[in-house]
Amino acid sequence: MSVLEEAQKIAKEFEISDECLNDCVDHFIWATEHGLRHHTDLGMPMIPTFVTKIPTGKEKGVFLASDLGGTNFRVCSVTLNGDSTYSLNQEKSSVPKELMVGSCKDFFDYLASQVEAFLRKHHGEHFVEDDGVSKAPFGDPFKMGFTFSFPVDQTSLNKGKLIRWTKGFDIKDAVGKDIVEEFQAALHSRKLPVHVAALVNDTVGTLMSRSYTKAESGRTLVGCIFGTGTNGAYSEKIKTIPKFDAAAHPEITDKIMVINTEWGSFDNRLNHIPNTRFDTALNERTPNPGYHMFEKRISGMFLGELLRLVLVELRDKGVLFKGLSATKKALDTEWSLDTSVPSRIDGDQSSDLSQTAKVVEDFLGYSSVPKEELEAIKLLAHAIGRRSATLSAVPLAGLILHTNALEKFEGEIDIGADGSVVEFYPNFEKMVREALRKTRLGTEGEKRVTIGLARDGSGVGAALCALVA
Ligand code: BGC
Repeated sequence: MSVLEEAQKIAKEFEISDECLNDCVDHFIWATEHGLRHHTDLGMPMIPTFVTKIPTGKEKGVFLASDLGGTNFRVCSVTLNGDSTYSLNQEKSSVPKELMVGSCKDFFDYLASQVEAFLRKHHGEHFVEDDGVSKAPFGDPFKMGFTFSFPVDQTSLNKGKLIRWTKGFDIKDAVGKDIVEEFQAALHSRKLPVHVAALVNDTVGTLMSRSYTKAESGRTLVGCIFGTGTNGAYSEKIKTIPKFDAAAHPEITDKIMVINTEWGSFDNRLNHIPNTRFDTALNERTPNPGYHMFEKRISGMFLGELLRLVLVELRDKGVLFKGLSATKKALDTEWSLDTSVPSRIDGDQSSDLSQTAKVVEDFLGYSSVPKEELEAIKLLAHAIGRRSATLSAVPLAGLILHTNALEKFEGEIDIGADGSVVEFYPNFEKMVREALRKTRLGTEGEKRVTIGLARDGSGVGAALCALVA
């Protein structure tokens, strides 16, 4: 077989049939309802977040927010103006790789050091130097919302134990610990005037901030992330969360509660989502094998590695990079390709595939790759990206159907989204919409869905949660 035929054969394995798509949506609805009833290990966690109010746009005040998402840590101060607008100051750092797999204490000390640097730069008025030790000279401590984008078993707005790491983090002695206690202790040891008032998943932050900025024009149903990882949050009446011990919280029984679905763990048993040998190989290389199996087919952490595994197979078969030698070791190095690689290849509009050739040369170190091989690579990048977008429609359709939003909402059904994949992967939203039309939503339902980027989701959302606290 030619390289193109080999590539077409593999691309087929990444296709999601309409039947499979709809089966996944039905199972997603089942998994949602099951997760609301039962605490499960392998199932979808459906975590109650203790956020019981959706913003109205009228919230006001200055709050600190910090955000540990995929590979970056951000600290910001957010001013909510009370009219759906806000302003924000922020500093970003990328978490050193060795700390992502080191000790809990070193990790939280690093986060605290970044908060300190931020406060010194932007809120110097809160510091006096006293024998070289920084102190808060006056005023109450800042309330901080901490966006921590990993599965946490929450027991109050600012208490929760880490269930497990995802997205390449593996700080073993942090699992099972209360994340806020650890962070607060690190802030205290630096005498910083900060009280961690809310622990917030990034999807909850996205739902809150999109609701704040969009309050005028209607309600937002889901906040979601398609970035390094993927996940979504929506609200549920407390009465319809059977596993939540409502009797222990009489003050909120009549309210709603935002649920962090952790949909990355949808169908961990792979009874419904398709599996290829590349997915199997990828899963074995992750620190959380067997978990977040849905995420491993969708999010930015994984798409580059999937492409690498496919290309390695074709190279080893002797049909790709025939007779060429590479100036780089990337093709044989695990996790060497990030999502920008399939993303730029899939987005190549040139007739001579010069962009693909450049990416292949820059990242893999192969030059003078024949056009037919470049076509094969592009086809494969597209197949991986398309599968990611098609599967991304599953939880969106699932939550719209589970909440009866088509009947309950008048007009538009709004979804706030954030993350590099939804923002930058070529035609991602278009492909998600194509898939939505093939579900029970149909063309009419899909037309009512608005998907809006909520760029400062985790910063503004965390500030809104700190305010509630
Ligand atoms: C985490 C979620 C998070 C998502 C997006 C997943 O790996 O488990 O908590 O919301 O990534 O950042």
